[in-house]
Amino acid sequence: PKATRSKLEGLAALRGKRVRVFGWVHRLRQQKDMTFIVLRDGTGFLQCILAGKCAQTYDALMLTTESTVELVGTVQAVPEGKTAPGGHELIVDYWHTLGAAPGGDDAFTNKFNEHSDPSVLADLRHLTLRGETAAAVLHVRAGVLSAFRATYAKHSLTEVTPPCMVQTQVEGGSTLFEFNYYGEKAYLTQSSQLYLETCLPSLGDVFCIQESFRAEKSLTRRHLSEYTHLEAELAFINFDDLMTHIESIICETIDLLLADPRMAELIQTLNPGFKPPKRPFMRLDYKDAIKYLNEHGIQRPDEETGEIGDHVIGDDIAEAAERQMTDQLGVPIFLNKFPKEIKAFYMKKVPGDPGFTESVDLLMPGVGEIVGGSMRIADMQELLEGYKREGIDPAPYYWFTDQRKYGTCEHGGYGLGVERFLAWLTKRFTVRECSLYPRWMGRATP
Ligand code: 4AD
Ligand code: MG
Repeated sequence: PKATRSKLEGLAALRGKRVRVFGWVHRLRQQKDMTFIVLRDGTGFLQCILAGKCAQTYDALMLTTESTVELVGTVQAVPEGKTAPGGHELIVDYWHTLGAAPGGDDAFTNKFNEHSDPSVLADLRHLTLRGETAAAVLHVRAGVLSAFRATYAKHSLTEVTPPCMVQTQVEGGSTLFEFNYYGEKAYLTQSSQLYLETCLPSLGDVFCIQESFRAEKSLTRRHLSEYTHLEAELAFINFDDLMTHIESIICETIDLLLADPRMAELIQTLNPGFKPPKRPFMRLDYKDAIKYLNEHGIQRPDEETGEIGDHVIGDDIAEAAERQMTDQLGVPIFLNKFPKEIKAFYMKKVPGDPGFTESVDLLMPGVGEIVGGSMRIADMQELLEGYKREGIDPAPYYWFTDQRKYGTCEHGGYGLGVERFLAWLTKRFTVRECSLYPRWMGRATP
């Protein structure tokens, strides 16, 4: 029978029309002479009603959830008093199974449930992806990536795609994944920052959305060994400009997302009551944060003795303490000006306070750090001293150093962990739920 193929998301406009749809049997309810299918095609859900002859076929009697089907029928508004996704349903007059999923012990519905062991769920990620929540998070993820791109375009940043295979480190040697590159030592990139810096004289302000890799040895809620890193670099700015820019990009991206009714609905479903953060974000100096932690009894174990005690200036604030403080304050926080000892070799010192750096982390309630950024050392001599302090051989960094030699400028940038941003936006317990196929220590399958 003639009927054009339609995707489920556009069906509201086709009420009264005859359509052909394809998809997976998301839910199935069989009565004596009627079969109800909730069909799923990735763009939406549709209740389909098989009655009369349509419900009496071999296919109908053998139907199982997750089978693929083709259905033809008329779209109509659901009768008053009943509900269905989108407010309409399909009265089917012709249909058949394209790919039957198994029934019995091997049935999809027997493979896992919300009580399954986390490692079983991880092994079955290719199937759990089909769940409504998992798919909603991935839809929001796609929306977030395109909204960031649109916001950057509005701010005149150019997108670049730096390499993932590199021969220099950015964020310390301890989290490098090393591999053999035609007999030479190479690494999977930890950050594209250094490459972005070299683009400034060529393209002006730039950004990238690229995978970064960290051989993290901790199994926390917010660490992956491969994550999507959104990084940007801006020329001729100061530290204050940098923070204002980060705030603008985040807030404008959220506004853009919420302007899309489908995204707004998905976000409200995943994170009921979500409200965009208020600007300006709170700015908290590192030294004041240490004071805050001590005044509020948020302590830390001593590195050597393990004894619990007060924080002191110079401490790298641990994840638990950071989260406790952020949750107490309950708003986004620009925690800034960290001591130079706990920060990377490329960071600019605070003028007049050289023990500290023009660095900033953006902390979000429920997650903690989602952005890390800084002003960069613009002076070549100072950069060379930075390499020395960190015990880094400057030779492989010749191209990064040249950036200071041929027309240096004040510049700064940042990296945002896309999965951490999503965990905050969609209120997920771990970043693992925000990645298509998450990788963490001991997990690179499927
Ligand atoms: O703070 P990080 O290490 O900063 C940098 O890499 C800078 N070079 C970025 C720049 O200035 N261009 O990482 C930036 C962000 C963190 O704030 C966090 O959101 C995310 O990347 N991130 C991780 N996300 C998931 N799993 C991990 N193991 C992560 N490590 C960092
Ligand atoms: Mg950081």
